[in-house]
Amino acid sequence: MSNKVAILMGSTSDWPAIKPATEILDSLQISYEVKVLSAHRTPKQLLEYVENKVKEGSIKVFIAGAGGAAHLAGVISAHTVLPVLGVPMESQSLKGLDSLLSTVQMPSGIPVATFGIGSAGSSNAALFAAAILGISDDAISNGIQKYREKKAQSVLDSKLD
Ligand code: RP5
Repeated sequence: MSNKVAILMGSTSDWPAIKPATEILDSLQISYEVKVLSAHRTPKQLLEYVENKVKEGSIKVFIAGAGGAAHLAGVISAHTVLPVLGVPMESQSLKGLDSLLSTVQMPSGIPVATFGIGSAGSSNAALFAAAILGISDDAISNGIQKYREKKAQSVLDSKLD
């Protein structure tokens, strides 16, 4: 089966925050691929990867996690009209505020849908990717509904010591 979602991150150091996105896609049985590519460290390879994926046609959504002056999502969006979901990584110096602003504040015309900093953001990006795919796929849409019902149940079942 060809992958529907491409998850990119700028560095292996982003993986702990990105991994929850893969777990959500796994639970919703959405096929994806994960790649480490950087807008500034591997600009040529990033461009080749995005161009190839767009040409192949199976990828419907990109998720991009990066930290610092994080332009990964913006650069991907510059090369495709597919939806790009940006996840700012928590950075050491500014706790991810730098990543958030450089991801969210795209100049008009090249959109990046930006999520929260870190693993909450990557989880929501995965759920949003699922929501996009769910528009034309009832199985995915039902899977999101079940995911929410499970979350609600775990709140209702929660007990304090
Ligand atoms: C960005 O620089 C990456 O997305 C990462 O969040 C940040 C730091 O990368 P490392 O120095 O940890 O490789 O490109």
